[in-house]
Amino acid sequence: MEIKLIGLTKEFESRKKGEKYVTAVDHIDVLIPSGKLVCLLGPSGCGKSTTLYMISGLHKPTDGKIIFGDKDVTNTPPEKRGIGLVFQNYALYPHMTVKENIMFPLVSRGEPKKVAAQKALDMAKLVGIEEYMDRRPGQMSGGQQQRVAIARAIVKTPDVLLLDEPLSNLDARLRITTREEIRRIQKETGITTVFVTHDQEEAMSISDEIIVMSLGKVQQVGAPQDVYNEPKNQFVAEFLGTPPINIVKANYIEEETEELEDPEDPKSAKKVIGKLMFGEQEFVDDITPTFGERMILTKDTRIGIRPEFFEMNPNGKYVMNVVHIEFIGRDKNVVFTLPGIDKLYKCIVPQTADIKEGEEARFNLKRYFIFDMIGRRVR
Ligand SMILES: Nc1ncnc2c1ncn2[C@@H]1O[C@H](COP(=O)(O)OP(=O)(O)O)[C@@H](O)[C@H]1O
Ligand SMILES: [Mg+2]
Repeated sequence: MEIKLIGLTKEFESRKKGEKYVTAVDHIDVLIPSGKLVCLLGPSGCGKSTTLYMISGLHKPTDGKIIFGDKDVTNTPPEKRGIGLVFQNYALYPHMTVKENIMFPLVSRGEPKKVAAQKALDMAKLVGIEEYMDRRPGQMSGGQQQRVAIARAIVKTPDVLLLDEPLSNLDARLRITTREEIRRIQKETGITTVFVTHDQEEAMSISDEIIVMSLGKVQQVGAPQDVYNEPKNQFVAEFLGTPPINIVKANYIEEETEELEDPEDPKSAKKVIGKLMFGEQEFVDDITPTFGERMILTKDTRIGIRPEFFEMNPNGKYVMNVVHIEFIGRDKNVVFTLPGIDKLYKCIVPQTADIKEGEEARFNLKRYFIFDMIGRRVR
């Protein structure tokens, strides 16, 4: 089932004093393709849950539309939308067995007990908990309880599965195995799934597409690898990746020449060559900006360099001061400073890189991003 959100908006009366309302979700336009697993990803408070609850029908939008397939469901009650919901805190019925929990949605809509029991067993097998059918939720681990919740959510064969931070109560190891399970179940059932998380690694590892949100707005949509490789802005670049991207403040200094860009046109801009300085070093990668770019390169330009973009090289263009080296298996993390900048950065280099703590090391950059003063990506 394809889901379309058109100008979807939710305003709440504010809980804060002196503030009338908050815009939790701000006119978002989103297309969730049929049969895919899409993550809503962003920091706490950016509007992910509110978006999910509007899709489910639990929250009524202030403005905008929700379309399932070709049907406008904006005013359809939750129980008529054909959705399954899973929350962070399992929300299982504690006095019922696993079997009764999974059967519940079927029994309550009047399906015969025998049919419901068979479907419950099929679901339990799908999520891998069939041997616990007679236990109560309290007798199971968090990961198992969350599987029961998923089985209960999909037993009615909904068109859409909505999950709100379903793994955040699980410990680190269980989070990883359970997210792989969710992905497997989603692929096996082909059910259109919207998965809310603030954990970028989780989102990157299971999604067909991620929707990065901040302050109620969509920042970028795309396949995880594409968003990681080509972030549209500094927020997205910083939100994805561990260790995080290095953001290096730089100054663009213009050194004017008299030449006109178009000698025929006296009003055309002067051709200006400039240089981008980061700390005491000049950024000498191919950075002669176009006229358009020059308008936005300023004293507050930032160079974004992912940890894996560094290439240690004794004849490299740039120099760093190595503060600390962490061995992490195949690679090593290098904590360093740059001349003239009072900040610690981190890069990843191969074990074999010949560098020493407390010494200088030279490097080149395989890639970089350039962001303007308001964080838009220029390059
Ligand atoms: N029922 C509510 N009443 C008032 N403000 C709310 C309510 N629910 C959410 N908010 C506010 O809306 C914003 C988005 O919240 P939410 O969607 O829960 O974010 P997320 O799930 O991304 O952490 C936050 O500023 C939050 O405080
Ligand atoms: Mg939330």
